[in-house]
Amino acid sequence: MITRNLFKTALLSAAVVLSTTVASADDGARDGAKQSKNLVVYFSRTGEQYGVGVISHGNTAVVAEIIAGETGADMFEVKPQKDEYPATYKELTDYAKKELFENARPAIAGSLPDLSGYDTVYIGAPVWWGDWPMIMYTFFESKCGQMEGKKIMPFATHAGSGLSGFDRKLSEACGKASVGAGLAVTGADAQKDPESVKTAVKGWLGK
Ligand SMILES: Cc1cc2nc3c(=O)[nH]c(=O)nc-3n(C[C@H](O)[C@H](O)[C@H](O)COP(=O)(O)O)c2cc1C
Repeated sequence: MITRNLFKTALLSAAVVLSTTVASADDGARDGAKQSKNLVVYFSRTGEQYGVGVISHGNTAVVAEIIAGETGADMFEVKPQKDEYPATYKELTDYAKKELFENARPAIAGSLPDLSGYDTVYIGAPVWWGDWPMIMYTFFESKCGQMEGKKIMPFATHAGSGLSGFDRKLSEACGKASVGAGLAVTGADAQKDPESVKTAVKGWLGK
């Protein structure tokens, strides 16, 4: 596990490569005839990311899809209402740092899923500056009431910091949520070794 300062050094020394962003993954919870008892909620970015170059499919999206594949879960992607996140790494880290320092609550696009019919909600995001991206706190605070009585399973992708207290921070943001053990996967594994991620997900799910 690396400290925030060490990570900052790594961030600053990373090469900045111009990139384009390509939209990814599901747009919302599926409207199938039969609703699953499981839901995967995730936030993920494409464009230039740490250690993996320019990606067209976000690291957390890859993990979210593996979890959904293993559990038959519906999916909901948290997308910003106003997407101003830069597609270049250095600029994105600066933007996210500002959001963190301002304790921002960026608005989420579209309507949020109704959690009432779900037993288990898997919630994942990239680690940003040792924390959940601020937009995930928008989700936690909006949906805290509906998280009561559900099994909430946090997962993270990262570049060395591990889970970074995602479980504890989610519990703090929503005391009503019963938060289970988290899963942490590196972004590099998500992009380059999805089979190892599948194995890790299965272990996490107790399969
Ligand atoms: C703004 C920002 C801050 C980050 N902060 C951390 C961090 O504190 N610790 C860490 O291990 N990785 C950090 N990373 C790396 C991401 O967590 C990692 O690349 C992640 O897999 C990106 O997932 P995504 O493609 O789903 O957005 C950061 C990346 C960004 C863009």
